[in-house]
Amino acid sequence: MEPTVLITGASQGIGKETAFLFAQHGYRVVLAARNHNRLQTVAQALRDANHGAIAIPTDVRDPQQVQTLVEKAIDAYSAIDVLVNNAGIYISGPVEEFTLDDWHQAIDTNLWGYIHTIHALLPHFVSRGSGTIVNVASVGGKVPIPYLAPYTTSKFAITGLTEALHTELSPKGIHVCGIYPNLIKSDFMERAIFRGKHEEDQQARRQQLEEILQVPFVEKPQDVANAIWEAVQNQQPNVNVGSANLSIASHRLFPSLMQWIFRKTFQNQDTMHQ
Ligand SMILES: NC(=O)c1ccc[n+]([C@@H]2O[C@H](COP(=O)([O-])OP(=O)(O)OC[C@H]3O[C@@H](n4cnc5c(N)ncnc54)[C@H](OP(=O)(O)O)[C@@H]3O)[C@@H](O)[C@H]2O)c1
Repeated sequence: MEPTVLITGASQGIGKETAFLFAQHGYRVVLAARNHNRLQTVAQALRDANHGAIAIPTDVRDPQQVQTLVEKAIDAYSAIDVLVNNAGIYISGPVEEFTLDDWHQAIDTNLWGYIHTIHALLPHFVSRGSGTIVNVASVGGKVPIPYLAPYTTSKFAITGLTEALHTELSPKGIHVCGIYPNLIKSDFMERAIFRGKHEEDQQARRQQLEEILQVPFVEKPQDVANAIWEAVQNQQPNVNVGSANLSIASHRLFPSLMQWIFRKTFQNQDTMHQ
């Protein structure tokens, strides 16, 4: 029987590319995200290409919805072999401008969303003595990035979660892997949150990122999907995607210089005199 992958955040961006790549390699795909129509469109496109795929609309922030997702997935395909935790949101601004709701948006999605799926699926993996958990983190999970405090907090937590699980679960036959991309030209700007002292500061922050995303060497969702595939195939614990290697190495070698460059790059009118 074909193996099965469950992917969160599978309706767009990195998750969608990963769904198509795994399907092309013979996996049946369980797709999860909130927007029902978009998710169904991806599932239908996969089925039209003769791949097995089901869409299960889920908000990963809600543990009950995630429990139902896992139950429905196992009912449909009997077993899950790979979990790709990917659903996430981007949030940027000076730390003093974030509301507690902003912090919750980032941490409930980017961290609790991953914990909910792992918690719901782990008994299945443990009872089978096999399974792979891929956590899509970020360079921001290894390098502290100013003006991204809630995002960076969530992604550093994913790094710790991934490394602890890897150590604990590998003797049980469960492989755990962290994926660390740099900036990726995906669909994340659609749901990205920007904060600033004034409306124009928020707009300036958004515009700055849109301009950076136009630079030709910014990597694509396919690059991350390929890295996820390689990590699962080769049971790698930790993959820095492409240019992320340079960012992480530069931070390790020249931490103060890199912090200064990040501050200068991402500061805005509202933080200019700090
Ligand atoms: N793009 C980058 O520059 C970049 C860099 C490094 C790491 N990453 C990480 O890569 C992952 C994917 O990012 P992406 O760039 O592909 O983002 P994207 O294009 O915005 O796609 C995000 C996906 O997650 C889903 N999602 C968001 N909130 C959700 C929730 N509460 N419950 C269920 N699904 C949810 C979205 O669908 P719905 O809105 O319909 O739910 C969508 O399918 C994220 O973890 C992100 O932090 C991205």
